[in-house]
Amino acid sequence: MKFLYSSAALLLVTAAQALCPYAERALQDPSFLKRHLEKQESSQDEAANEKRQSGPGGIPFTTFDKNQLIDVTGDHAWKAPGPNDLRGPCPGLNALANHGYFPRSGVVPLTVGATATNQVYGLAINFGLPLSVYATLVDGDVVGDTWSIGGKQPQTVTSPILGAGDGLSGSHNKYESDASPGRGDYYLFNGDVSSLRVKKFKALYDLQKNKPVPNYNLDVLIQHRKYTFDDSKNTNPYFFFEPFAGVAVANAAHTFIPALFSNHSTQYPNGLLDKQTLKSFFAITEAADGTLSYKPGYERIPNNWYRRPLGAVNEYTPASFAQDLVKIAAVVPEAVSVGGNTGKVNSFTGVDLGDITGGAYHTTDLRNPTKFVCYFYQITLALVPDFLRSEALGSALGSALNLLHSKIDPFVDPKCAKIANYNDTFASKFPGGAIGQP
Ligand code: HEM
Ligand SMILES: *[C@@H]1O[C@H](CO)[C@@H](O)[C@H](O)[C@H]1NC(C)=O
Ligand SMILES: *[C@@H]1O[C@H](CO)[C@@H](O)[C@H](O)[C@H]1NC(C)=O
Repeated sequence: MKFLYSSAALLLVTAAQALCPYAERALQDPSFLKRHLEKQESSQDEAANEKRQSGPGGIPFTTFDKNQLIDVTGDHAWKAPGPNDLRGPCPGLNALANHGYFPRSGVVPLTVGATATNQVYGLAINFGLPLSVYATLVDGDVVGDTWSIGGKQPQTVTSPILGAGDGLSGSHNKYESDASPGRGDYYLFNGDVSSLRVKKFKALYDLQKNKPVPNYNLDVLIQHRKYTFDDSKNTNPYFFFEPFAGVAVANAAHTFIPALFSNHSTQYPNGLLDKQTLKSFFAITEAADGTLSYKPGYERIPNNWYRRPLGAVNEYTPASFAQDLVKIAAVVPEAVSVGGNTGKVNSFTGVDLGDITGGAYHTTDLRNPTKFVCYFYQITLALVPDFLRSEALGSALGSALNLLHSKIDPFVDPKCAKIANYNDTFASKFPGGAIGQP
C-alpha cells in the first residue's frame, strides 16, 4: 500500500512539472519559492504526505492561517430550513443557505453564488461564476438573475425561458446527473435526485472504517467514484452521462468533497476530512450501534472548521479539477467520457466527443488538463444556446446570450478551440437522454 502511494505521488510530481506550476506560482507569490524551498528540507515523510493532497497543479499548500476559520455564529448560526425554504442535491450549497451565507430561502442571486462559494469554501471565482451563470440560464430566472438550489422558485420568476425557475432539483441531464456521489439516479428513484441515499453514503463512509486517522481524501473519493459509476451502470438501464452534467458536474461532485469539505490546520495545511466533518456536511447522524440516518436539509458547517486558503494558487479552479480528473480517468476511464446504458443494465456505450463538438474536442482531450479547462468553458458556451435554441424567446434570447458571454468570455483563453456546431442528436440514442427534460 505504501509502495502504491509512492508511485502515485511520483506520477503527480511528473504531471505537475510538465505544467511548470512552480514558476507560475512563484510569479504570483514571490515568497512562495522561498517557502517551497524551506519545505523541501522538511522530513521525507511529511513531503510524501503533502504531495498526495495538494492544491492546483499538485502543489502542496504551504501555509495555514487562523483566518481560514469560518464563522458559524450570529447571522451565520445554523438554522434548519423553514417550510418554504428550498434545499436540493448539493450539500455544499444547502449548508451555505442553512448558515445564511446564501439567502435562507435557497434562492440565490447570480453573483452571491460565486462570492459565497469562494469566501466560505475557497472555490475559485473562475469556477463558481460559470457554475452560477449556468444555473441562472438553464434552471433559474434570467431576468432577475437568481436561481434555486432546490425545487421550483416561487412565482416571482419573470424569465420567459422554458424550465426557468425549476432549480437544481429540476435540472436532470442539464445540471444534475446520474452517478452522483450520494444522490440516486433519476430513473431509479422516480425523479427524486435531491435526497441523499444512505446506502451510497455508507459505501463512502466505510472506505475509512478501520483507519487510525480516517481521511476522505482524493484517493478515497476516486475509489468511491468507481463504486458510484459502476453502481449506475449495473443497476440503471437508463443510466446517462452528459457532456457537462456528467463529465464535469458529477465528477466535480466527487472531487469537491476532499477539496472543499476538508478541515485545515497547521498540522494538516492540505486538509483532513474526518468522519465527523463528512457526516456534518451530508446531514448524517450516527447512532451508537453505527446506524446512519439522514435528515434532509440539515447540512451543517461544523464548529471550528477551517476552509482551504484563499488566493490564486490555493483556490480550487477548473485547472485543479482538471488535474483531479486525470487521476479519476486512470481508475475509472468511462467516467471521463460521454455515454450511457442503451436500455439494459451493463450496456454502457461511449460516444466520441468529436461527433458532439463538431471535431473541436475529442474524448482523450478530457484527460489533458489544458484542453479540459478549454472544454469546461466552451461546453458551457455551447450548451446554454442549445438548451435555449428551440424556445421562442424573442428579445429574451439576446439578453440571455449576452449574460452568458459577458460573464464567461473573460475566463476563456482565446487559444481554446470553439465549439461552433454542437450536435445534440447523440442523446436520442440513449433512452436515459430524454428523461427528466421539460
Ligand atoms: C455555484 C456553485 C455550485 C453549483 C451550481 C452546484 C451544483 C450542484 C449540482 C447540480 C449537483 C448535483 C450533481 C449530480 O447530480 O451529481 C451538486 C452536487 C454536489 N455538490 Fe455542488 N454546486 C456548487 C458548488 C458546490 C460547492 C462549493 C461544494 C462543496 C463545498 C459542492 C459540493 C457538492 C457535492 C459533495 C455534491 C454531491 C452530492 C451527492 O451526490 O450527495 N458544490 N452540486
Ligand atoms: C480543524 O482542525 C483544528 C486543528 O486541528 C481543530 O482544532 C478543529 O477542531 C478541527 N475542526 C473540525 C471541524 O474538525
Ligand atoms: C450528429 O451526430 C450524429 C451521431 O450522433 C451523426 O450521425 C450526425 O451526422 C451528426 N450531424 C452533424 C451535422 O454532424
